[in-house]
Amino acid sequence: MYQALYRKWRPKTFSDVYGQPHVTRTLQSQLESGRISHAYLFTGSRGTGKTTCAKILSKAVNCLNPVDGNPCNECEICKGIDNGSILDVIEIDAASNNGVDNIRDLREEANFTPVNAKYRVYIIDEVHMLSIGAFNALLKTLEEPPSHVIFILATTEIHKLPATILSRCQRFDFKRISPEDITARLVYVSEKENVTLTENAAALIARIADGGMRDALSLLDRCFAMGNYIDEDAVSSAAGIAGTVHLFSFSEFIAKGNFTEALKLVSRLHNESCDIDSLCTELTLHFRNLMVAKTVKECEGLIVCSKDELEKIKSRAAEIKLSKILSCIEILEKAAANIKNAVNKKIQLEAAVIKMCSPASSANINEELEERIASLEEKINLLSAGKAVAPEKSMPASPAVTETKTEKPAEENTKAEEKTDTPEEKKDAPAPTAETIVDDGPFYNWSDVLEALKKYDIPLYGIMATSTAVIKNGRVIINSENPTLFDFICSDTHSRELSRAIYDVLGQKMKIAVSNTEKAKAATSPLEDLKNKINNFNNN
Ligand SMILES: Nc1ncnc2c1ncn2[C@@H]1O[C@H](COP(=O)(O)OP(=O)(O)OP(=O)(O)O)[C@@H](O)[C@H]1O
Ligand SMILES: [Mg+2]
Ligand SMILES: [Zn+2]
Repeated sequence: MYQALYRKWRPKTFSDVYGQPHVTRTLQSQLESGRISHAYLFTGSRGTGKTTCAKILSKAVNCLNPVDGNPCNECEICKGIDNGSILDVIEIDAASNNGVDNIRDLREEANFTPVNAKYRVYIIDEVHMLSIGAFNALLKTLEEPPSHVIFILATTEIHKLPATILSRCQRFDFKRISPEDITARLVYVSEKENVTLTENAAALIARIADGGMRDALSLLDRCFAMGNYIDEDAVSSAAGIAGTVHLFSFSEFIAKGNFTEALKLVSRLHNESCDIDSLCTELTLHFRNLMVAKTVKECEGLIVCSKDELEKIKSRAAEIKLSKILSCIEILEKAAANIKNAVNKKIQLEAAVIKMCSPASSANINEELEERIASLEEKINLLSAGKAVAPEKSMPASPAVTETKTEKPAEENTKAEEKTDTPEEKKDAPAPTAETIVDDGPFYNWSDVLEALKKYDIPLYGIMATSTAVIKNGRVIINSENPTLFDFICSDTHSRELSRAIYDVLGQKMKIAVSNTEKAKAATSPLEDLKNKINNFNNN
Protein backbone atom coordinates (compact mmCIF):
# COMPACT_ATOMS: atom_id res chain seq x y z
CA MET A 1 0.00 0.00 0.00
CA TYR A 2 1.28 3.46 -0.88
CA GLN A 3 2.24 5.48 2.14
CA ALA A 4 2.13 9.26 1.82
CA LEU A 5 5.61 10.78 1.76
CA TYR A 6 5.05 12.91 4.82
CA ARG A 7 4.14 9.83 6.86
CA LYS A 8 6.91 7.73 5.43
CA TRP A 9 9.45 10.43 6.22
CA ARG A 10 8.24 11.42 9.64
CA PRO A 11 11.46 11.99 11.63
CA LYS A 12 12.22 9.21 14.11
CA THR A 13 14.79 11.05 16.20
CA PHE A 14 15.19 14.65 17.35
CA SER A 15 18.25 14.90 15.14
CA ASP A 16 16.03 14.34 12.07
CA VAL A 17 13.69 17.19 12.97
CA TYR A 18 14.45 20.21 10.80
CA GLY A 19 14.34 23.83 11.81
CA GLN A 20 13.30 23.50 15.48
CA PRO A 21 16.64 23.38 17.32
CA HIS A 22 15.30 25.47 20.21
CA VAL A 23 12.87 22.63 20.89
CA THR A 24 14.89 19.55 20.05
CA ARG A 25 18.11 20.57 21.81
CA THR A 26 16.29 21.54 24.98
CA LEU A 27 14.37 18.28 25.05
CA GLN A 28 17.49 16.25 24.36
CA SER A 29 19.43 17.86 27.17
CA GLN A 30 16.50 17.37 29.56
CA LEU A 31 16.40 13.71 28.60
CA GLU A 32 20.13 13.30 29.01
CA SER A 33 20.12 14.86 32.45
CA GLY A 34 16.89 13.13 33.49
CA ARG A 35 15.15 16.42 34.30
CA ILE A 36 11.96 15.72 32.44
CA SER A 37 8.75 17.58 33.06
CA HIS A 38 5.34 16.03 33.62
CA ALA A 39 3.43 18.28 31.28
CA TYR A 40 4.59 19.66 27.95
CA LEU A 41 2.73 21.93 25.62
CA PHE A 42 3.74 22.01 21.95
CA THR A 43 2.31 24.87 19.98
CA GLY A 44 2.91 26.45 16.56
CA SER A 45 1.60 26.42 13.02
CA ARG A 46 0.50 23.35 11.05
CA GLY A 47 2.91 20.70 9.94
CA THR A 48 5.94 22.00 11.79
CA GLY A 49 6.71 18.92 13.90
CA LYS A 50 4.55 19.05 17.04
CA THR A 51 3.06 15.57 16.79
CA THR A 52 6.35 14.26 15.45
CA CYS A 53 8.29 15.56 18.46
CA ALA A 54 5.61 14.30 20.84
CA LYS A 55 6.02 10.80 19.41
CA ILE A 56 9.81 10.98 19.60
CA LEU A 57 9.65 12.24 23.17
CA SER A 58 7.27 9.46 24.19
CA LYS A 59 9.78 6.90 22.94
CA ALA A 60 12.85 8.70 24.27
CA VAL A 61 11.59 8.73 27.87
CA ASN A 62 10.97 5.01 27.70
CA CYS A 63 13.79 3.81 25.44
CA LEU A 64 16.11 1.20 26.90
CA ASN A 65 19.21 2.49 25.06
CA PRO A 66 18.73 6.20 24.40
CA VAL A 67 21.55 7.96 22.52
CA ASP A 68 22.12 11.68 23.22
CA GLY A 69 18.51 12.04 24.31
CA ASN A 70 17.26 10.33 21.14
CA PRO A 71 15.30 7.07 21.17
CA CYS A 72 17.26 4.16 19.68
CA ASN A 73 14.26 2.97 17.63
CA GLU A 74 15.71 -0.57 17.93
CA CYS A 75 14.89 -1.77 21.44
CA GLU A 76 11.73 -3.73 22.20
CA ILE A 77 10.12 -0.68 23.83
CA CYS A 78 10.79 1.65 20.86
CA LYS A 79 9.58 -1.00 18.43
CA GLY A 80 6.56 -1.83 20.59
CA ILE A 81 5.52 1.82 20.71
CA ASP A 82 5.96 2.13 16.95
CA ASN A 83 3.90 -0.96 16.11
CA GLY A 84 1.27 -0.28 18.74
CA SER A 85 1.87 -3.42 20.81
CA ILE A 86 2.90 -1.36 23.83
CA LEU A 87 -0.13 0.45 25.16
CA ASP A 88 1.58 2.84 27.55
CA VAL A 89 1.81 5.59 24.97
CA ILE A 90 -1.68 6.84 24.29
CA GLU A 91 -2.56 9.30 21.55
CA ILE A 92 -5.84 11.13 22.02
CA ASP A 93 -7.41 13.30 19.39
CA ALA A 94 -9.13 15.98 21.43
CA ALA A 95 -11.20 16.98 18.42
CA SER A 96 -13.23 13.78 18.71
CA ASN A 97 -12.77 13.08 22.44
CA ASN A 98 -13.46 16.48 23.83
CA GLY A 99 -15.97 15.75 26.57
CA VAL A 100 -15.52 15.77 30.31
CA ASP A 101 -16.13 11.99 30.40
CA ASN A 102 -13.24 11.30 28.07
CA ILE A 103 -10.88 13.15 30.38
CA ARG A 104 -12.34 11.49 33.51
CA ASP A 105 -11.66 8.07 31.96
CA LEU A 106 -8.17 9.20 31.18
CA ARG A 107 -7.64 10.33 34.77
CA GLU A 108 -8.71 6.99 36.21
CA GLU A 109 -6.58 5.07 33.81
CA ALA A 110 -3.59 7.32 34.49
CA ASN A 111 -3.50 6.16 38.09
CA PHE A 112 -2.42 2.67 37.06
CA THR A 113 1.27 2.11 36.64
CA PRO A 114 2.46 1.50 33.09
CA VAL A 115 2.51 -2.13 31.90
CA ASN A 116 5.70 -2.36 29.88
CA ALA A 117 7.28 1.05 29.77
CA LYS A 118 8.66 3.34 32.45
CA TYR A 119 6.20 6.15 31.78
CA ARG A 120 2.62 6.26 30.65
CA VAL A 121 2.58 9.05 28.08
CA TYR A 122 -0.58 10.83 26.98
CA ILE A 123 -0.32 12.78 23.76
CA ILE A 124 -3.38 15.02 23.52
CA ASP A 125 -3.49 16.47 20.02
CA GLU A 126 -5.64 19.49 19.10
CA VAL A 127 -6.04 20.09 22.82
CA HIS A 128 -7.78 23.43 22.21
CA MET A 129 -10.87 21.44 21.17
CA LEU A 130 -11.57 20.25 24.75
CA SER A 131 -14.74 21.49 26.38
CA ILE A 132 -14.52 23.69 29.46
CA GLY A 133 -15.53 20.78 31.66
CA ALA A 134 -12.84 18.62 30.07
CA PHE A 135 -10.23 21.32 30.65
CA ASN A 136 -11.19 21.50 34.31
CA ALA A 137 -10.97 17.75 34.68
CA LEU A 138 -7.57 17.77 32.98
CA LEU A 139 -6.41 20.58 35.21
CA LYS A 140 -6.78 18.42 38.34
CA THR A 141 -4.50 15.76 36.88
CA LEU A 142 -2.00 18.33 35.67
CA GLU A 143 -1.81 19.78 39.18
CA GLU A 144 -0.80 16.52 40.77
CA PRO A 145 0.17 14.05 38.11
CA PRO A 146 1.20 10.54 39.20
CA SER A 147 5.00 10.33 38.94
CA HIS A 148 4.81 7.77 36.11
CA VAL A 149 2.66 9.96 33.86
CA ILE A 150 3.72 12.49 31.23
CA PHE A 151 1.29 14.68 29.33
CA ILE A 152 2.17 16.16 25.97
CA LEU A 153 -0.45 18.61 24.74
CA ALA A 154 -0.29 19.87 21.15
CA THR A 155 -2.23 22.68 19.52
CA THR A 156 -2.12 25.21 16.72
CA GLU A 157 -4.40 27.54 18.67
CA ILE A 158 -2.73 28.34 21.93
CA HIS A 159 -4.99 31.36 22.55
CA LYS A 160 -7.92 28.99 23.07
CA LEU A 161 -6.31 27.36 26.11
CA PRO A 162 -7.22 28.51 29.62
CA ALA A 163 -4.41 30.28 31.46
CA THR A 164 -4.61 27.67 34.20
CA ILE A 165 -3.58 24.96 31.74
CA LEU A 166 -0.83 27.11 30.21
CA SER A 167 0.74 27.83 33.55
CA ARG A 168 1.06 24.14 34.38
CA CYS A 169 2.88 23.09 31.25
CA GLN A 170 6.35 23.55 29.93
CA ARG A 171 5.72 25.32 26.66
CA PHE A 172 7.59 24.90 23.36
CA ASP A 173 6.81 27.12 20.40
CA PHE A 174 7.34 25.48 17.01
CA LYS A 175 8.33 27.97 14.37
CA ARG A 176 7.50 28.05 10.70
CA ILE A 177 10.30 26.13 9.07
CA SER A 178 12.68 28.27 7.03
CA PRO A 179 12.68 27.85 3.23
CA GLU A 180 16.29 26.65 3.45
CA ASP A 181 15.40 23.90 5.92
CA ILE A 182 12.37 22.86 3.88
CA THR A 183 14.46 22.80 0.70
CA ALA A 184 17.12 20.70 2.44
CA ARG A 185 14.54 18.18 3.62
CA LEU A 186 12.90 17.99 0.17
CA VAL A 187 16.25 17.38 -1.49
CA TYR A 188 17.09 14.69 1.09
CA VAL A 189 13.76 12.89 0.66
CA SER A 190 13.96 13.11 -3.16
CA GLU A 191 17.45 11.63 -3.17
CA LYS A 192 16.33 8.75 -1.00
CA GLU A 193 13.40 8.18 -3.33
CA ASN A 194 15.66 8.33 -6.42
CA VAL A 195 13.94 11.34 -7.89
CA THR A 196 15.72 14.40 -9.31
CA LEU A 197 14.44 17.63 -7.85
CA THR A 198 15.91 20.84 -9.29
CA GLU A 199 17.01 23.69 -7.05
CA ASN A 200 14.35 26.01 -8.47
CA ALA A 201 11.67 23.38 -8.03
CA ALA A 202 12.63 22.82 -4.38
CA ALA A 203 12.63 26.58 -3.78
CA LEU A 204 9.21 26.90 -5.38
CA ILE A 205 7.74 24.13 -3.21
CA ALA A 206 9.26 25.74 -0.12
CA ARG A 207 7.71 29.05 -1.08
CA ILE A 208 4.27 27.57 -1.60
CA ALA A 209 4.47 25.56 1.64
CA ASP A 210 5.03 28.78 3.59
CA GLY A 211 6.85 27.22 6.52
CA GLY A 212 4.87 23.98 6.81
CA MET A 213 6.83 20.77 6.22
CA ARG A 214 3.76 18.59 5.83
CA ASP A 215 2.42 20.80 3.03
CA ALA A 216 5.83 20.78 1.37
CA LEU A 217 6.04 16.98 1.43
CA SER A 218 2.43 16.60 0.24
CA LEU A 219 3.17 18.81 -2.73
CA LEU A 220 6.36 16.86 -3.42
CA ASP A 221 4.22 13.72 -3.37
CA ARG A 222 1.96 15.17 -6.07
CA CYS A 223 5.04 16.07 -8.10
CA PHE A 224 6.37 12.50 -7.76
CA ALA A 225 3.23 11.34 -9.52
CA MET A 226 4.40 13.23 -12.61
CA GLY A 227 7.73 11.49 -13.09
CA ASN A 228 11.29 11.10 -11.89
CA TYR A 229 12.49 14.54 -12.90
CA ILE A 230 10.89 17.46 -11.13
CA ASP A 231 11.49 21.00 -12.28
CA GLU A 232 9.64 24.25 -11.68
CA ASP A 233 7.06 23.50 -14.37
CA ALA A 234 6.21 20.17 -12.78
CA VAL A 235 5.74 21.90 -9.43
CA SER A 236 3.64 24.63 -11.02
CA SER A 237 1.28 22.20 -12.64
CA ALA A 238 1.13 19.88 -9.61
CA ALA A 239 0.27 22.88 -7.45
CA GLY A 240 -2.13 24.25 -10.07
CA ILE A 241 -0.32 27.57 -10.12
CA ALA A 242 0.78 29.78 -12.94
CA GLY A 243 4.53 29.33 -12.73
CA THR A 244 6.93 32.19 -12.38
CA VAL A 245 7.33 32.84 -16.11
CA HIS A 246 3.68 33.84 -16.30
CA LEU A 247 3.99 35.98 -13.21
CA PHE A 248 6.80 37.95 -14.83
CA SER A 249 4.70 38.35 -17.97
CA PHE A 250 1.88 39.72 -15.84
CA SER A 251 4.06 42.26 -14.09
CA GLU A 252 5.49 43.32 -17.44
CA PHE A 253 2.04 43.87 -18.97
CA ILE A 254 0.91 45.69 -15.85
CA ALA A 255 3.97 47.94 -15.89
CA LYS A 256 3.33 48.78 -19.52
CA GLY A 257 -0.41 49.16 -19.05
CA ASN A 258 -0.97 46.49 -21.70
CA PHE A 259 -4.30 45.07 -20.57
CA THR A 260 -5.00 43.30 -23.86
CA GLU A 261 -2.05 40.95 -23.35
CA ALA A 262 -2.72 40.67 -19.63
CA LEU A 263 -6.33 39.61 -20.27
CA LYS A 264 -5.23 37.14 -22.94
CA LEU A 265 -2.86 35.58 -20.42
CA VAL A 266 -5.63 35.24 -17.84
CA SER A 267 -7.74 33.47 -20.46
CA ARG A 268 -4.96 31.18 -21.53
CA LEU A 269 -4.12 30.14 -17.98
CA HIS A 270 -7.80 29.67 -17.23
CA ASN A 271 -8.13 27.41 -20.27
CA GLU A 272 -5.13 25.44 -19.09
CA SER A 273 -7.18 24.90 -15.91
CA CYS A 274 -4.99 27.01 -13.72
CA ASP A 275 -6.70 27.64 -10.42
CA ILE A 276 -7.80 31.29 -10.23
CA ASP A 277 -7.54 31.50 -6.42
CA SER A 278 -3.96 30.24 -6.51
CA LEU A 279 -3.11 32.50 -9.42
CA CYS A 280 -4.31 35.50 -7.42
CA THR A 281 -2.28 34.39 -4.40
CA GLU A 282 0.82 33.86 -6.56
CA LEU A 283 0.42 37.26 -8.17
CA THR A 284 0.13 38.87 -4.75
CA LEU A 285 3.31 37.11 -3.67
CA HIS A 286 5.04 38.20 -6.86
CA PHE A 287 4.16 41.85 -6.21
CA ARG A 288 5.16 41.43 -2.59
CA ASN A 289 8.57 40.28 -3.80
CA LEU A 290 8.79 43.28 -6.13
CA MET A 291 7.93 45.53 -3.19
CA VAL A 292 10.66 43.99 -1.04
CA ALA A 293 13.22 44.16 -3.86
CA LYS A 294 12.28 47.79 -4.46
CA THR A 295 12.66 48.85 -0.85
CA VAL A 296 15.30 46.59 0.70
CA LYS A 297 18.79 46.67 -0.73
CA GLU A 298 19.95 43.29 0.53
CA CYS A 299 16.70 41.42 0.05
CA GLU A 300 18.15 37.91 -0.43
CA GLY A 301 16.95 36.63 2.92
CA LEU A 302 13.47 38.05 2.47
CA ILE A 303 12.60 36.57 -0.90
CA VAL A 304 12.34 32.83 -1.35
CA CYS A 305 13.58 32.00 -4.84
CA SER A 306 16.58 30.92 -6.86
CA LYS A 307 19.45 33.29 -7.66
CA ASP A 308 18.38 33.73 -11.31
CA GLU A 309 14.89 34.55 -10.27
CA LEU A 310 16.08 37.07 -7.71
CA GLU A 311 17.92 38.95 -10.44
CA LYS A 312 14.76 38.97 -12.53
CA ILE A 313 12.75 40.25 -9.60
CA LYS A 314 15.24 43.03 -8.94
CA SER A 315 15.27 44.24 -12.53
CA ARG A 316 11.48 44.09 -12.81
CA ALA A 317 11.18 46.01 -9.51
CA ALA A 318 13.42 48.72 -10.95
CA GLU A 319 10.95 49.19 -13.80
CA ILE A 320 7.86 49.77 -11.67
CA LYS A 321 7.15 52.61 -9.28
CA LEU A 322 6.68 51.65 -5.66
CA SER A 323 3.29 53.37 -5.56
CA LYS A 324 2.19 51.19 -8.47
CA ILE A 325 3.40 48.02 -6.77
CA LEU A 326 1.63 48.93 -3.55
CA SER A 327 -1.61 49.67 -5.33
CA CYS A 328 -1.38 46.34 -7.19
CA ILE A 329 -1.01 44.50 -3.87
CA GLU A 330 -4.07 46.29 -2.58
CA ILE A 331 -6.08 45.50 -5.70
CA LEU A 332 -5.06 41.83 -5.54
CA GLU A 333 -5.93 41.58 -1.84
CA LYS A 334 -9.43 42.85 -2.57
CA ALA A 335 -9.70 40.60 -5.61
CA ALA A 336 -8.72 37.56 -3.54
CA ALA A 337 -11.57 38.26 -1.13
CA ASN A 338 -14.03 38.75 -4.01
CA ILE A 339 -12.83 35.65 -5.84
CA LYS A 340 -13.64 33.46 -2.82
CA ASN A 341 -17.36 34.16 -3.13
CA ALA A 342 -17.58 34.92 -6.82
CA VAL A 343 -19.86 33.02 -9.18
CA ASN A 344 -17.32 33.59 -11.91
CA LYS A 345 -13.83 33.82 -10.47
CA LYS A 346 -12.21 34.60 -13.79
CA ILE A 347 -14.19 37.84 -14.18
CA GLN A 348 -13.04 39.02 -10.78
CA LEU A 349 -9.43 38.43 -11.71
CA GLU A 350 -9.92 40.16 -15.06
CA ALA A 351 -11.36 43.20 -13.31
CA ALA A 352 -8.35 43.28 -11.01
CA VAL A 353 -5.96 42.96 -13.94
CA ILE A 354 -7.60 45.91 -15.71
CA LYS A 355 -7.37 48.01 -12.57
CA MET A 356 -3.71 47.14 -12.20
CA CYS A 357 -3.00 48.01 -15.83
CA SER A 358 -4.66 51.42 -15.51
CA PRO A 359 -2.19 54.29 -15.17
CA ALA A 360 -3.27 55.37 -11.71
CA SER A 361 -5.85 53.66 -9.63
CA SER A 362 -8.15 55.88 -7.62
CA ALA A 363 -6.43 54.68 -4.47
CA ASN A 364 -3.24 55.97 -5.94
CA ILE A 365 -4.62 59.38 -6.77
CA ASN A 366 -6.04 59.76 -3.29
CA GLU A 367 -2.71 58.83 -1.86
CA GLU A 368 -0.91 61.39 -3.98
CA LEU A 369 -3.41 64.12 -3.12
CA GLU A 370 -3.15 63.29 0.55
CA GLU A 371 0.60 63.49 0.35
CA ARG A 372 0.47 66.87 -1.34
CA ILE A 373 -2.05 68.29 1.07
CA ALA A 374 0.09 67.12 3.97
CA SER A 375 3.15 68.77 2.48
CA LEU A 376 1.27 72.00 1.81
CA GLU A 377 -0.03 72.06 5.36
CA GLU A 378 3.45 71.57 6.63
CA LYS A 379 4.62 74.50 4.54
CA ILE A 380 1.85 76.74 5.84
CA ASN A 381 2.97 75.93 9.36
CA LEU A 382 6.57 76.74 8.49
CA LEU A 383 5.54 79.98 6.88
CA SER A 384 3.43 80.98 9.88
CA ALA A 385 6.51 80.39 11.97
CA GLY A 386 8.38 82.77 9.68
CA LYS A 387 10.57 80.10 8.10
CA ALA A 388 11.52 79.84 4.45
CA VAL A 389 10.06 76.97 2.46
CA ALA A 390 10.95 75.36 -0.81
CA PRO A 391 8.45 75.85 -3.58
CA GLU A 392 5.82 73.25 -4.42
CA LYS A 393 6.84 72.04 -7.80
CA SER A 394 4.65 69.43 -9.28
CA MET A 395 1.27 71.15 -9.51
CA PRO A 396 0.20 71.53 -13.10
CA ALA A 397 -1.49 74.93 -13.11
CA SER A 398 0.43 78.05 -12.26
CA PRO A 399 -0.33 80.54 -9.54
CA ALA A 400 0.21 84.27 -9.65
CA VAL A 401 3.93 84.04 -9.25
CA THR A 402 5.31 80.65 -9.93
CA GLU A 403 8.66 79.41 -8.95
CA THR A 404 10.29 77.35 -11.60
CA LYS A 405 12.79 74.72 -10.93
CA THR A 406 16.25 75.97 -10.74
CA GLU A 407 18.50 78.36 -9.01
CA LYS A 408 21.67 76.83 -10.32
CA PRO A 409 23.49 77.36 -13.56
CA ALA A 410 23.57 74.79 -16.32
CA GLU A 411 26.02 72.03 -15.48
CA GLU A 412 25.13 71.89 -11.84
CA ASN A 413 21.53 71.13 -12.52
CA THR A 414 21.65 68.04 -10.41
CA LYS A 415 19.44 65.10 -9.68
CA ALA A 416 17.54 66.77 -6.88
CA GLU A 417 15.86 68.95 -9.42
CA GLU A 418 14.56 66.24 -11.62
CA LYS A 419 10.88 65.63 -11.33
CA THR A 420 10.66 62.66 -9.01
CA ASP A 421 7.42 60.97 -8.27
CA THR A 422 8.10 57.67 -6.63
CA PRO A 423 7.51 58.03 -2.91
CA GLU A 424 10.92 56.79 -1.87
CA GLU A 425 12.54 59.42 -4.01
CA LYS A 426 10.17 62.21 -3.18
CA LYS A 427 11.99 65.14 -1.67
CA ASP A 428 11.33 68.78 -1.29
CA ALA A 429 13.33 71.07 -3.53
CA PRO A 430 16.74 71.73 -2.09
CA ALA A 431 17.07 74.67 0.25
CA PRO A 432 18.71 77.68 -1.38
CA THR A 433 22.44 77.24 -1.28
CA ALA A 434 23.84 80.60 -2.34
CA GLU A 435 22.88 83.61 -0.24
CA THR A 436 21.88 86.48 -2.46
CA ILE A 437 23.89 89.66 -2.53
CA VAL A 438 21.78 91.22 -5.26
CA ASP A 439 19.52 94.03 -4.09
CA ASP A 440 15.77 93.95 -4.61
CA GLY A 441 14.49 96.13 -7.40
CA PRO A 442 14.26 96.17 -11.19
CA PHE A 443 16.63 93.84 -13.02
CA TYR A 444 18.48 96.64 -14.85
CA ASN A 445 20.63 94.61 -17.18
CA TRP A 446 17.87 92.18 -18.11
CA SER A 447 18.61 92.91 -21.78
CA ASP A 448 22.08 91.38 -21.22
CA VAL A 449 20.43 88.22 -19.97
CA LEU A 450 18.27 88.17 -23.10
CA GLU A 451 21.35 88.66 -25.25
CA ALA A 452 23.07 85.75 -23.55
CA LEU A 453 19.93 83.69 -23.96
CA LYS A 454 19.99 84.32 -27.66
CA LYS A 455 23.20 82.28 -27.75
CA TYR A 456 21.94 79.43 -25.59
CA ASP A 457 18.28 79.01 -26.40
CA ILE A 458 16.78 80.78 -29.42
CA PRO A 459 13.18 79.56 -28.95
CA LEU A 460 13.12 80.70 -25.33
CA TYR A 461 14.68 83.99 -26.34
CA GLY A 462 11.88 84.44 -28.88
CA ILE A 463 9.28 84.02 -26.18
CA MET A 464 11.05 86.22 -23.66
CA ALA A 465 12.15 88.99 -26.01
CA THR A 466 9.58 91.48 -24.64
CA SER A 467 9.81 90.43 -21.01
CA THR A 468 11.09 92.47 -18.10
CA ALA A 469 12.25 91.31 -14.71
CA VAL A 470 12.58 92.37 -11.11
CA ILE A 471 14.61 90.94 -8.29
CA LYS A 472 12.77 90.21 -5.09
CA ASN A 473 13.90 88.23 -2.05
CA GLY A 474 16.81 86.79 -3.98
CA ARG A 475 14.61 85.66 -6.85
CA VAL A 476 14.38 86.81 -10.41
CA ILE A 477 10.71 87.39 -11.16
CA ILE A 478 10.02 87.60 -14.87
CA ASN A 479 7.08 89.63 -16.15
CA SER A 480 5.76 88.48 -19.45
CA GLU A 481 2.48 88.68 -21.32
CA ASN A 482 3.33 85.49 -23.13
CA PRO A 483 1.28 82.72 -21.54
CA THR A 484 3.56 79.95 -22.82
CA LEU A 485 6.59 81.24 -20.93
CA PHE A 486 5.71 79.37 -17.79
CA ASP A 487 5.44 76.04 -19.60
CA PHE A 488 8.74 76.71 -21.33
CA ILE A 489 10.53 77.41 -18.12
CA CYS A 490 9.05 74.30 -16.56
CA SER A 491 11.10 72.24 -18.97
CA ASP A 492 14.46 71.28 -17.56
CA THR A 493 16.39 72.23 -20.68
CA HIS A 494 14.98 75.73 -21.04
CA SER A 495 15.19 76.51 -17.36
CA ARG A 496 18.81 75.38 -17.40
CA GLU A 497 19.66 77.72 -20.26
CA LEU A 498 17.88 80.62 -18.62
CA SER A 499 19.71 80.01 -15.34
CA ARG A 500 22.92 79.97 -17.28
CA ALA A 501 22.17 83.31 -18.96
CA ILE A 502 21.30 84.89 -15.60
CA TYR A 503 24.44 83.44 -14.09
CA ASP A 504 26.49 84.99 -16.92
CA VAL A 505 25.17 88.42 -16.09
CA LEU A 506 24.91 88.36 -12.28
CA GLY A 507 27.71 85.89 -11.60
CA GLN A 508 25.42 84.15 -9.16
CA LYS A 509 22.82 81.37 -9.01
CA MET A 510 19.29 82.71 -8.70
CA LYS A 511 15.84 81.24 -8.20
CA ILE A 512 13.52 82.02 -11.05
CA ALA A 513 9.81 82.80 -10.89
CA VAL A 514 7.30 83.85 -13.51
CA SER A 515 4.66 86.47 -12.89
CA ASN A 516 1.66 85.81 -15.06
CA THR A 517 -1.73 87.30 -14.33
CA GLU A 518 -3.65 85.06 -16.74
CA LYS A 519 -2.62 81.90 -14.96
CA ALA A 520 -3.43 83.31 -11.57
CA LYS A 521 -7.04 83.71 -12.62
CA ALA A 522 -7.15 80.19 -13.92
CA ALA A 523 -6.32 78.62 -10.59
CA THR A 524 -9.59 77.69 -8.96
CA SER A 525 -9.37 74.33 -7.17
CA PRO A 526 -9.14 74.36 -3.36
CA LEU A 527 -5.74 72.75 -3.58
CA GLU A 528 -4.63 75.47 -5.99
CA ASP A 529 -5.99 78.15 -3.64
CA LEU A 530 -4.02 76.65 -0.83
CA LYS A 531 -0.91 76.64 -2.94
CA ASN A 532 -1.46 80.20 -4.13
CA LYS A 533 -1.70 81.31 -0.54
CA ILE A 534 1.65 79.77 0.17
CA ASN A 535 3.30 81.28 -2.82
CA ASN A 536 1.83 84.70 -2.13
CA PHE A 537 2.92 84.40 1.45
CA ASN A 538 6.35 83.52 0.12
CA ASN A 539 6.49 86.51 -2.11
CA ASN A 540 5.22 89.14 0.31
N1 LIG B 1 10.42 19.96 11.69
C1 LIG B 1 10.22 18.94 10.82
N2 LIG B 1 11.26 18.29 10.26
C2 LIG B 1 11.06 17.30 9.38
N3 LIG B 1 9.84 16.90 8.98
C3 LIG B 1 8.76 17.52 9.50
C4 LIG B 1 8.90 18.57 10.43
N4 LIG B 1 7.68 19.03 10.77
C5 LIG B 1 6.82 18.28 10.08
N5 LIG B 1 7.45 17.37 9.30
C6 LIG B 1 6.81 16.44 8.36
O1 LIG B 1 5.43 16.76 8.32
C7 LIG B 1 4.65 15.69 8.81
C8 LIG B 1 3.62 16.23 9.77
O2 LIG B 1 4.25 16.76 10.91
P1 LIG B 1 3.55 16.80 12.32
O3 LIG B 1 2.43 15.84 12.37
O4 LIG B 1 4.61 16.67 13.34
O5 LIG B 1 3.02 18.26 12.29
P2 LIG B 1 2.20 19.04 13.41
O6 LIG B 1 3.04 20.20 13.82
O7 LIG B 1 1.74 18.13 14.46
O8 LIG B 1 1.00 19.59 12.53
P3 LIG B 1 -0.56 19.79 12.92
O9 LIG B 1 -0.62 21.07 13.68
O10 LIG B 1 -1.23 19.90 11.61
O11 LIG B 1 -0.97 18.61 13.73
C9 LIG B 1 5.62 14.75 9.46
O12 LIG B 1 5.21 13.43 9.26
C10 LIG B 1 6.92 15.01 8.77
O13 LIG B 1 7.02 14.22 7.62
MG1 LIG C 1 -0.10 17.32 14.93
ZN1 LIG D 1 14.87 2.36 22.15
